[in-house]
Amino acid sequence: MLVERKEIEKLLVLTAAIESGLIDALDGGAKTAEEVALAASTDERATRIVLDALVDVGAVDSDDGDDGGRQSYRLSAEGRRRLLDPGPDLERNSLLHQANKARGWLELPQVLKQGKPKQRERSAGGLRTFVRTMAEGAPQAMDEVVDRVLAYSREGIPEKPLTLLDAGGAVGHMARRFKARGVEATLCDRPEVLEEAWEYQGEGAAQLNFHPCDFTEQLPPGPFDVIYLGNVYHIYGPGTNAEVTRMVFDSLGPGGSIAIRDFVLGRSTRAPMFAVNMLQATAEGGVWRESQYREWLTEAGFEDIRIIDLEHADNQLIFGRRPV
Ligand SMILES: C[S@@+](CC[C@H](N)C(=O)[O-])C[C@H]1O[C@@H](n2cnc3c(N)ncnc32)[C@H](O)[C@@H]1O
Repeated sequence: MLVERKEIEKLLVLTAAIESGLIDALDGGAKTAEEVALAASTDERATRIVLDALVDVGAVDSDDGDDGGRQSYRLSAEGRRRLLDPGPDLERNSLLHQANKARGWLELPQVLKQGKPKQRERSAGGLRTFVRTMAEGAPQAMDEVVDRVLAYSREGIPEKPLTLLDAGGAVGHMARRFKARGVEATLCDRPEVLEEAWEYQGEGAAQLNFHPCDFTEQLPPGPFDVIYLGNVYHIYGPGTNAEVTRMVFDSLGPGGSIAIRDFVLGRSTRAPMFAVNMLQATAEGGVWRESQYREWLTEAGFEDIRIIDLEHADNQLIFGRRPV
């Protein structure tokens, strides 16, 4: 079989349950379908059918109600861990993001005809889901990125505490990790994303510098020792990426490092499918080969260019250094 149907159905039923409030309605403990429907303002028959499907996928437990009592439902331990409780296993936002993406993928036949997607405005809820999804990445991979970025950057600037710009840093999940390692971290992203970041960071927000930006136009005033660009080169086409790479070079001090994380075509097994995702989501985005990254970095003036495969994720880090 080419496609495992159940995985698609699982995604869609789980995200429907999150979006319509069924999962949150189960937060307080066991409830009957009627009580869940009342709490979530949903139709009782539809609610019962979806609750039984959630039992089938393991997100909800239920007693069978065969003893004459009314059947009740509660979140399973896994359902709670994946859909509700904050922590490294939370998948709630990434599932919603995945379902949002599916809407765009369904328009691929039109994209193939026209060469680019229809302009779509992201709703406030969609934006929140999207940026929080980024923070739900595997913690091991994020820690590996921090270790490797700092190891490379330290070769250029061995002595003093480092300053870092996280360009397109979303809610600051990486900036926070760099800060925890003693780095002075500045987070730049679009203003509406930084509002989300401020809320996401809570008390930790004061530890980071926030700088609203459009990094394709201008970077925050440097110079920085490290500029980290995680998963942003796939959003733009070659012309913009070349220009951003040049601006990054100009915003680094002598010995400073550029560190890019992305899916490199020819090295990441996920890259070809990821390119399709960019096809339905952006005007010119895609995945780029190692030779393309080397060209952008070399033309901007970078030396000591290295590309490494991450151990804990199926993508790469691309490094370059501004000469001293
Ligand atoms: C795919 S997310 C990556 C988030 C994070 N760097 C990571 O790797 O987890 C892309 C982020 O870049 C931001 N972004 C994209 N284009 C931007 C631009 N021109 N200026 C500022 N931020 C931008 C988006 O708002 C989003 O937060």
